[in-house]
Amino acid sequence: MSGPPIERVRDNERRGVEPPYLSPDYRSTRLRAPDRPLILLPESMHDPTGPVYGESPPAETDSDLTRQHAGEPLGERIIVTGRVLDRSGRPVPNALIELWQANAAGRYIHQRDQHPAPLDPNFTGAGRCLTDGDGGYRFTTVKPGAYPWQNHPNAWRPAHIHFSIFGRAFTDRLVTQMYFPGDPLFAADPIFQSIRDPRARERLVSALDWDTTTPEWALGYRLDIVLGGRDATPVEA
Ligand SMILES: [Fe+2]
Repeated sequence: MSGPPIERVRDNERRGVEPPYLSPDYRSTRLRAPDRPLILLPESMHDPTGPVYGESPPAETDSDLTRQHAGEPLGERIIVTGRVLDRSGRPVPNALIELWQANAAGRYIHQRDQHPAPLDPNFTGAGRCLTDGDGGYRFTTVKPGAYPWQNHPNAWRPAHIHFSIFGRAFTDRLVTQMYFPGDPLFAADPIFQSIRDPRARERLVSALDWDTTTPEWALGYRLDIVLGGRDATPVEA
């Protein structure tokens, strides 16, 4: 993740890769979009010798969201894999990937999510892992459901998984979302559509992956995350 992040986002924004801070159809951006010039953080904040995440490695169950409770969660079990690559296509090892998602019924364990879908006592919806030497990551989870979100009348988010990727320093963090192929809600989702370049939007859509699909067990989905460059994965500014 090289270069001042804000300049990188601005550059990508011009190319339609990053969603602009203000996307009026995505209602909450109307209030949170900055209305004054941004302040660049000093480059020292991106120094990899600065504070980093903890030294204890994630536990095995951190990347298997179906084994974090006494029983198995309800829903369609899936395996999500991919690689984290830098702008030149080189693998990024040892990056901390965190994900969070709704359960199979489309409900988050969050105080603000009170829509009438059931919580699952066997599903928290949060996981993490470190990328391996080849930049690879792997999660086992259940496919999240679509959920309503009150952005506009009858607004529904396509099924998605939120991703956060930390580089070597706390300030090297990207946040994005992974979608599932062929979702009919894409066209009506202001968050997905806030990425103006259709090719960039497609880079957030995972592919069904027969290599990781496991007979009698789980479907595999694959998404590579590219940090910058022409094929950059769109991120949330
Ligand atoms: Fe979400």
